[in-house]
Amino acid sequence: MIESRKNDHIRIASTQDVEEGNTLFDEVKLIHMALPEIDFEDTDPSVVVFNKRLSFPFIIGAMTGGTETAGKINTTLAKCAEEFGIGMYVGSQRIGIVKPETAWTFRVVAENAPTALKIANLGAPQISRLSEKELIDWVNEAIDMINADAIAIHLNPAQEVFQPEGEPWFRGVLEKLRVIKKAVNKPLIVKEVGNGISREVAKALSVVKPDAIDVGGLGGTSFIKIESIRSGNLDEASVFRDWGIPTAISICEVRSVYDGVVIASGGLRNGLDGAKAVALGANAFTMSRPLLIAALNGIDEVRRVIGRLMREFRIAMFLTGSRTVSDLARAPVVLGLTITSWLSQRGIKCGRGY
Ligand SMILES: Cc1cc2nc3c(=O)[nH]c(=O)nc-3n(C[C@H](O)[C@H](O)[C@H](O)COP(=O)(O)O)c2cc1C
Repeated sequence: MIESRKNDHIRIASTQDVEEGNTLFDEVKLIHMALPEIDFEDTDPSVVVFNKRLSFPFIIGAMTGGTETAGKINTTLAKCAEEFGIGMYVGSQRIGIVKPETAWTFRVVAENAPTALKIANLGAPQISRLSEKELIDWVNEAIDMINADAIAIHLNPAQEVFQPEGEPWFRGVLEKLRVIKKAVNKPLIVKEVGNGISREVAKALSVVKPDAIDVGGLGGTSFIKIESIRSGNLDEASVFRDWGIPTAISICEVRSVYDGVVIASGGLRNGLDGAKAVALGANAFTMSRPLLIAALNGIDEVRRVIGRLMREFRIAMFLTGSRTVSDLARAPVVLGLTITSWLSQRGIKCGRGY
């Protein structure tokens, strides 16, 4: 049952149009610098995240594991993470824990990306029903399975409520996150999966003190759409088509109250989107669905996509006169009307205003 769901996700996400909403990165403009006073070669896009140096601030997004196909996808993505010196999340590892015979589909990530930044993954609804001891055991098992540098817990209430066999169980999640943070000796990331994190959620998380928040905003892969294709109830999905917080805005919402690591995800599709995310306050960015499609087309396609992202990110650095990623983080931005109206109604200042 879980296996067939994982394969459904891979099949539907790679063959159908499942992207909804708008990230609003098209409303974020970086200012062209005609006199950068650096050579292109001087740009240094590397950063350090959780004590690992990344060649540029990019992490392969959380996607899969648990089936034969997923094992192959994870192998391909892990090889590229290692080659490029970037990070990689895996998909939810519950299946690898409850069905140990599938754990190899995650372990291939440790085997093929021994030195890369690796991030383990579990879902909030699933951990909400565990005892404290089971919770700590699950998290440690997920970390050990891929020799992870950090653990991500995903918040996905919209996905669960639209999923035919969903588990929309969010009572007590905050307390579970607190237990993980106290008992587990690795950085904790709290992430969304495509509907965004608001200032209120980031504030509520202050009792947990996560090491990173991955905004998982609106404008890319929609799990409302994917789960509705699975259930056949597309009318309900269309009512909630653009439900969520656009990624560019979610970065500002979170950054306005949170000074830890912010990871931008949800609909970023090129290196310029990544550069804009950094200028809005993110420390790193991810992309998922396009890399799933690339991985299904072979490792050279994944290499091509990541190489393109890296070059676009560096071009954006050069054209804003940013030698380092810290320089880019201070680059001025001009925001369009939808974003400025949203931020003013919410009383939020863009940038590192916390
Ligand atoms: C096939 C597929 C499976 C996914 N599974 C997970 C998962 O298990 N855990 C998770 O945290 N996010 C999962 N995600 C969500 C992504 O990490 C990401 O938040 C979302 O796809 C938005 O990014 P994108 O627009 O670049 O695809 C999955 C995404 C895809 C496409």
